Amino acid sequence: MKKIITLTMMMAFITGCNQAPQEPQISFSNDVMPLITKNCTECHTSGGDGANASGFITTDYDAIMKGTKYGPVVIPGNSVASTFYRLIAGLVDPSIQMPHGKEAMSAADIAKVEKWIEQGAKNN
Ligand code: HEC
Repeated sequence: MKKIITLTMMMAFITGCNQAPQEPQISFSNDVMPLITKNCTECHTSGGDGANASGFITTDYDAIMKGTKYGPVVIPGNSVASTFYRLIAGLVDPSIQMPHGKEAMSAADIAKVEKWIEQGAKNN
């Protein structure tokens, strides 16, 4: 009897896992790139203030993943270690928060970037 109960519970557990709702995948091109274009690229494009100061160009995926002249600012799978996320989420001194000298991005938009990084910062 005990064995049957254990087996039933295991089945329920396995089935439960299979049915767990999948977290929606964030798309780089549909969700993240438009936010970056809107909030960052005016300064982080060739010749822009941000690009001149940091070397960070935000016009395409490869440039974003390349980061600044000091190295990557997006660490796939680890938003809190990603300078990109820290700068937009206000985890830094307000004087260096991004977008520079402007109002912070909305919480919903910041959360999209966070999820995208957590999901592996894919070019999807
Ligand atoms: C109004 C211009 C402007 C906008 C808009 C802007 N930046 Fe910047 N950004 C700068 C300047 C200027 C610097 C260099 C000075 C500094 O680090 O504070 C910089 C530096 C950076 C750096 C390098 C920081 C470091 O520690 O080396 C990153 C990363 C960055 N910006 C990301 C972003 C992101 C992401 C956005 C969009 C959410 C953004 N920036 C929007 C002007 C801007």
